[in-house]
Amino acid sequence: MAFRDFREFMAVAEQRGKLRRVTKTVDRMWEPACLAKWMFQALPAQDRFGLIFDNVEGSNFPLATGALGASVDTYAMALGVEPDDLNEIWNKALLNPQEPRVVEQAPCQEVIRLGADAKLSDLPIPVWTPGKDAGPYITTITVTRNADTGAQNMSVYRTMVRDDHSVIVNINPGRDGYIYAHTYLDQDKPAPVAWVVGTEPVIHFATVANLPIGIDEITIAGGLKEAPVELVKAKTSDILVPANAEIIIEGEIMPGEFADEGPFGEFAGYMGAVTSKPVARITAITHRKDAIYYGYTSQMPPSESTVIQSLSNAPILLKRLRHDFGQETVRDVFIDLTFGGGLAHGIISMRPTEAGHAMKVGHLIAEQTVLKRITIVDEDIDIRDPQHVEWAMNSHYHPFHDTAIIDDVLLPLDPTTRSAGNMPAKGSKIIVDATQSLDAGSLSLPSKELMDKALDVWKEVGLPDFEIPKRVRYLLERS
Ligand SMILES: Cc1cc2nc3c(=O)[nH]c(=O)nc-3n(C[C@H](O)[C@H](O)[C@H](O)COP(=O)(O)O)c2cc1C
Repeated sequence: MAFRDFREFMAVAEQRGKLRRVTKTVDRMWEPACLAKWMFQALPAQDRFGLIFDNVEGSNFPLATGALGASVDTYAMALGVEPDDLNEIWNKALLNPQEPRVVEQAPCQEVIRLGADAKLSDLPIPVWTPGKDAGPYITTITVTRNADTGAQNMSVYRTMVRDDHSVIVNINPGRDGYIYAHTYLDQDKPAPVAWVVGTEPVIHFATVANLPIGIDEITIAGGLKEAPVELVKAKTSDILVPANAEIIIEGEIMPGEFADEGPFGEFAGYMGAVTSKPVARITAITHRKDAIYYGYTSQMPPSESTVIQSLSNAPILLKRLRHDFGQETVRDVFIDLTFGGGLAHGIISMRPTEAGHAMKVGHLIAEQTVLKRITIVDEDIDIRDPQHVEWAMNSHYHPFHDTAIIDDVLLPLDPTTRSAGNMPAKGSKIIVDATQSLDAGSLSLPSKELMDKALDVWKEVGLPDFEIPKRVRYLLERS
């Protein structure tokens, strides 16, 4: 069952030990981010939790981070499913989007601050790479609107706080939000924009997913919760925002006004460059009476950003391969959780139906995504179990015959690429076909029948209980 709003999810996360509360007064210029970095860098994934800082110096709002994307477990918990069912629930949502419903009254507008009263310094917006970032950054959902059609886009574009009433938005050419904002800017009109802070988890996950332009993320969020999302009109523009959000920051991107954005700690593990990006003026801040401020932890991977992007992008690729490209023998897609779901390593399981089929699918994926490494394995390999994938690589992959390298690919944030002057940076990709192409004989494991019998003996003699890993179940099917 999906959570109604952000705070309902946070309460359950805390109950289950997946959210820890810090009551000490913290300095948002360094303490919250550094503690979050310890959490992501030092703790094994299954032990990670979100953090909520009740007392942030200079702000009346608590600051939370890491709760949605601490691990696969918290992501699945936020969607109300088991980790194994994630691709399934996403597939259902992608095939059954739900239109949102517009309401008149909304919790996110319990308190309304307009114009000069809307001060960004009232919010506990942190510095995410202390000592290195250019300033505090808003790291949450950004809503833009198409002037001609009224269509909306929701994505995460990091946004640098310049002063109390203006920000610099890292909105890049080619991105849906950029295209929508330009439907106003190209007519010399300010482009309305809003940032959504802390809302239903389904909205958070649908908006980081790399969906094609024209698909409104909010309809996929509705599909994920199997009910329409409620939206309300923003106070200073026609933009519609999630009614149950904790905080909404409203603004407008100014035509022809640019400023230096960055440096900022990038998801790939290095500081990003300073570039010129559009300035937006803040027109309003609306919020619940006791609102929680939420920001994603990104920078050095693994991070919340890498976890949520990988888990949201994998099912989209799976749906595209199966439904849009008719590759029905593709069984599953996993994107490694340590590199942002974009430039990362994608592992695909499938049943090749002819010679060269897996490599063909690999090329299709290389063309359609920014994945840098693509590995294809047979359908009975557990792609989430590194031990099983390594076995497939070592026993089924012939590097000389089963590798394709594609050079001169546009991979803008890949640290192995360097741009020369204004020329775009070009990187390369690798496709590894680790499906079994030759019959290597019988597996060196006893038959399933004998192993089942042995399991009875295991129990009879009182050896400790264990759960049979999926990898072993698959191997026994083959033996
Ligand atoms: C924490 C975080 C920060 C992000 N920052 C940016 C950003 O500054 N610019 C950008 O283009 N994408 C950024 N992304 C990735 C986009 O949100 C994501 O790829 C999204 O699907 C793009 O949507 P669009 O195709 O509708 O533009 C970020 C994602 C996360 C989770």
